[in-house]
Order: sequence, then structure tokens, then C-alpha cells
Amino acid sequence: MRQSLPNIVITGFMGTGKTTVGKKVAQLLGKTFYDFDQIIEERMKISIKEIFEKYGEIFFRDTESKIVIEFVSKTDVVIATGGGTLLFNNNYSVLSENSIIFCLIAQKDILRKRLENSFGRPLLSGGALSERIECLLNERKALYQKLPNPIDTSNLSLSEVASKIIEIYNQHLVTKKFNVDKK
Ligand code: S3P
Repeated sequence: MRQSLPNIVITGFMGTGKTTVGKKVAQLLGKTFYDFDQIIEERMKISIKEIFEKYGEIFFRDTESKIVIEFVSKTDVVIATGGGTLLFNNNYSVLSENSIIFCLIAQKDILRKRLENSFGRPLLSGGALSERIECLLNERKALYQKLPNPIDTSNLSLSEVASKIIEIYNQHLVTKKFNVDKK
């Protein structure tokens, strides 16, 4: 029986550093990195902001879920999801079948600072940034809290976050048996 390694999935609210951390973890472990938002933008040849404007959020969520299903067959890669991916449809249960999931978190004022100059995030437009963050966080708090392996990035360097993820991932490999492709 060949044993494949589970994926590392990095999720969390906008501005928690999913893409930056994902790239670092992938680089340190020599794994391939995928960013769901980037995949969607490349395939649709327009930005996430334009997708929301032209087709609406429901269409975007359906597109995300299709990508999630495509990734069922992938093993041993690092994935950064969009900030809402795992909160919609059955994306969490689909991805958790072959992945260890990490949820990055950060304090509100740190999120606001990191997101201050971000103009490509449709869910943060139309109102004061701190209010949009507060409102979305309140809506989603209970859902994010259910996700496994929370890591507060507020006072950690990029290398520290990446090391934590790698340490937890390695522990999982030792304690759990991942026979992702039992054949
Ligand atoms: C979203 C987060 C965004 C992007 C889209 C929706 C969300 O990703 O997927 O704008 O629902 O939180 P980032 O967290 O990478 O900005």
C-alpha cells in the first residue's frame, strides 16, 4: 500500500497572512503551493472583485466549491484558501478528508492595519474598514472557532508561523495514519 501525505490547508479571515504563510511553508517543505483565489482569477481571467461585481457572491462561492472538489484528488500540497472558503457549502468536510487544516487568526487592530491598503477585497468595500472587519468577524466568529489548529499570528514572525504549522503537521503524520490513496 502506497501512503500519500495529507495536504496542508491554510485558512482564516482576510489579512491573517494565508498566502504569505502558505508560500513559506511550501518552500520550507519542498511542496507545491496553490492559492484558491489566484486559481479562480487565472481561470476566469478577471479579478475576484470583478467576479463579485459581475456575477455576485453566490456564483463566487459555487466556483470556490468546484475548485475544492478538484482538490480531493491532490495530496502532499500546500493550499491557501480564500477567507470564506471553508465557511460555505461542504468545503470543510471535503477538504478535511485529505488535508490538515490550519486556521490563522489575528487581533482586529492588526487586521485593520494589514488590510488598510487593500482594494481588491469586495467584502471590505462600502463603509469604514474597521466596521466592515468588525461586522464580518462577528458574523463568522463562531464558524472560524470550529476550525482546527488555530494559530494567532498577531505577535509572530512569518518564520514562526510557518514553523508552528510544520511542527503540528509533522505531529499529525506521526500520530495519525493517512492512507490517502488506499489502493
Ligand atoms: C473572502 C476572502 C478573499 C476572497 C474573497 C472572499 C471572504 O480572500 O476569497 O474576496 O469571504 O473572506 P482573502 O482572504 O485571501 O482576501
